[in-house]
Amino acid sequence: MQIPRLSPITSPWMRCLMQDKPTIDELLVNYGSPINIHNPDSMEDNYKAYQDVFEEFKLDYQVFFARKANKTKGVVRKAAAIGMGIDTASLQEYAQCLELGLHPDKIIVTAAIKNKGLIKLAVSNGSLLILDNEDECKLVQKVALELGKSANVGFRVSGFTVDDKKLYSRFGLDADDFELFINENFLQSERYNQLTYRGLHFHLNGYSIKERGNALNQCLSLAELLKQKGLTTEFIDIGGGLLMNYLESESEWDNFHYQLRKAISRKTAPITYGNNGLGIEIWNGLIRGELKTYPFWNANSKGDFLRGILSYKNLSGEKVGDLAREMGVEIRMEPGRSMLDQVGMTVAKVAFRKKDSSGDWLVGLEMNMTQMLSGSADFLLDPYVVYHDDTKNEDSVGVYFTGAYCLERDVLLKRKINLDKLPEVGDVVFFVNTAGYMMHFFESSAHLFPLAENLMLKEYPTEKIDSSSFFKDQ
Ligand SMILES: Cc1ncc(COP(=O)(O)O)c(C=O)c1O
Repeated sequence: MQIPRLSPITSPWMRCLMQDKPTIDELLVNYGSPINIHNPDSMEDNYKAYQDVFEEFKLDYQVFFARKANKTKGVVRKAAAIGMGIDTASLQEYAQCLELGLHPDKIIVTAAIKNKGLIKLAVSNGSLLILDNEDECKLVQKVALELGKSANVGFRVSGFTVDDKKLYSRFGLDADDFELFINENFLQSERYNQLTYRGLHFHLNGYSIKERGNALNQCLSLAELLKQKGLTTEFIDIGGGLLMNYLESESEWDNFHYQLRKAISRKTAPITYGNNGLGIEIWNGLIRGELKTYPFWNANSKGDFLRGILSYKNLSGEKVGDLAREMGVEIRMEPGRSMLDQVGMTVAKVAFRKKDSSGDWLVGLEMNMTQMLSGSADFLLDPYVVYHDDTKNEDSVGVYFTGAYCLERDVLLKRKINLDKLPEVGDVVFFVNTAGYMMHFFESSAHLFPLAENLMLKEYPTEKIDSSSFFKDQ
């Protein structure tokens, strides 16, 4: 049986580096393994994909890069340089944006937990805080009073009704109670008189264009209602979670699903570690469940996804993007992952090869599972191996890559990966397109392993990439 391939989309800068063995080796000697390598210039195309759609709709817009998706300063600097704002999720992220010279108007705070220090800094600088609940309103009111300032706020709204079903979220104020919340707290009382209302915000789980379009429509209705009460909604922020596409081929993606189901049903040999169904399982002899991973292949990436949301038609048949323009409401969003498409790679050195007791090849890498970890069931992209000896005198081989933690489950990818030949110790593995969440979101220093070094490419294209083309992010 052929192990199904999932070929990732790669950029010229990635291919250029992967062909340059002396530079790769020098980087690994200088910085250890693994290394996170970034080319923030790729953010320009990603931003442009969104700008083009906003311009198609002639909308006022602002895009705030959700920096939680990657912790380097380099990506913040790049986002700021191309005119984006930054969406921050902690005091540290917020303070660092100020240090990097961002104007407070270009920084918003959507942190799930806002401590007093964060609120104090944001209010004293006049940045926008997106509020989630009444206790936050109380704390912001108190801090603003102490500072003798008014606080710019937006409200996160959730619980939208789509197809007669309420969308659950642990975040935000319930859309159905929002009018009452505004009446009681802003119109019939002075309870939050230090808070200046600027706009509405939502961020939805999942990747349904219909749900996003519907949520935007319901926010536009709330904006209309607030207008009648004398409150102007300057913006509606539709959050992040805009899809990106990682894979070259839909047919490979479909074939992987097909082969996984066959393997889970024990009709063919496993193609995942321990025959993990990644969300699919056999129950009473039947297959049930679905893949619990990111939709790594999808036809609705970035600008197309945004266009889909803005083109969603409300009950009067009007596109919500057109309605927002007519109402004079600016549309904002906070993409993280999709802004980092083609920005990064994780590079690690092969430490050992061995066969396990099931007869599978394990390739141990000098890295651990937290240095490339998906929040979903697996990261479904084939890595590339750079072999020091290019001669091919062996058959292709299926391997699992394993990491350095003392856990049985430190298996870096749950998929068996088809390689042209078994790597040698010292060969190098490239995991591509890992800048969005994969590198940093879950990284830890168990066993006192140092965190991976983050390198930035100075500029691209260049005549040649060598180790002096990179600098440490700081
Ligand atoms: C409030 C908010 N905005 C933006 C984002 C960024 O989402 P993504 O990286 O999927 O675009 C997130 C991600 O969790 C979020 O919670």
